[in-house]
Amino acid sequence: MSTQGIPGRGEWAAVLCGLGAALPATVVSNADLTARLDTTDEWIRSRTGIAQRRIAGTDLTTEDLAVRAATKALTGPVSVPVQAVVLATTTPDRCCPATAPAVAARLGLTGALAFDLAAGCTGFLYALATAAGLIAASTAEAVLVIGADRLAALPDPGDRTTVPVFGDGAGAVVLQRGTAAERGALGPVAVGSDGTQADLIRAPRPGALRMEGAEVFRHAADRMSAAARNAAAAAGWALSDVDRLAPHQANARITGFVARQLGIPDSRQLHNIEHVGNTGAASLPVLLAQAAADGRLTPGHRVLLTAFGAGLTWGATTLTWPDLPPSHQPTEGSVADDR
Ligand code: UT7
Repeated sequence: MSTQGIPGRGEWAAVLCGLGAALPATVVSNADLTARLDTTDEWIRSRTGIAQRRIAGTDLTTEDLAVRAATKALTGPVSVPVQAVVLATTTPDRCCPATAPAVAARLGLTGALAFDLAAGCTGFLYALATAAGLIAASTAEAVLVIGADRLAALPDPGDRTTVPVFGDGAGAVVLQRGTAAERGALGPVAVGSDGTQADLIRAPRPGALRMEGAEVFRHAADRMSAAARNAAAAAGWALSDVDRLAPHQANARITGFVARQLGIPDSRQLHNIEHVGNTGAASLPVLLAQAAADGRLTPGHRVLLTAFGAGLTWGATTLTWPDLPPSHQPTEGSVADDR
């Protein structure tokens, strides 16, 4: 679906009924980076908003992170069988086979439709759109959607511009069929791409990422704002209806710009980039899990999600925050200290 001409919807909706996140235990602070790169804590904080990131060692794979986040998401009040697993990642553990079937098997979901989806940092929103389509087509009654990335493995270890930006993590949600009127309902997903700009972010292999930072910054700000407007309009929301803006955590200056463009005050903007950096496809579900855990997100909140990434790709959607049982709310400790 392009961001233009989003088709209307009936009464049904994909409804969020499970949520989880997992981060590696190892914290790398800006001070740690200054020991090996020509940079400063002040530069990184002021240009990106990042103070620290979580980094996976070689013994913690994308598959492991995905399983940990998904295990928590599956403890939610899912009332129908999970018949599909969509795993958004730019950093699968290998070229072939895909990571999703192995994740499904470790979760006891052998037999489920399971595949990886690569759409850069927009991957989670592409995966939500795909999951909603699978539910609409009656291919699956419930879908496990995971965003998992080890983006810290991509930059050239000596590149002071990109190394500070990226971190590792995973987040997951479960969607099942419900109605558009109920809490947890996902709105239309506005997604798009522009492959003519593919060279702006490219990583032919781990350790060789190149990013035209300033140019990407401009595209990210414009595309995230436009996609967010389109998704809100498709859902019938005015921007003043939005209780929480959940932007992909690429750079605090980008997300601040997007919020200003949309006229959404800082008090309604969710952020966690200071603690985790840019975690790619994991960025949005980790942000949602942490915000739900610490009370920044409460049931009934109207949430506007927007993202941008390599491809170039972009996307946005709306979500009315669900009533997740207290036993299911991820605690700050379980999100931040998971190993
Ligand atoms: O999630 C997918 C999409 N990704 C994004 O949205 C990322 C978008 N881009 C960005 O977030 C920013 O462009 C970066 C954080 C990557 C870079 O920030 P910037 O403000 O665009 O910096 P720049 O690359 O234009 O560099 C400005 C200056 C340069 O020095 P000169 O040439 O002006 O003397 C760089 O060499 O800052 C210098 N510089 C640094 N200085 C100290 C670059 N990195 C560093 C550093 N420490 N870590």
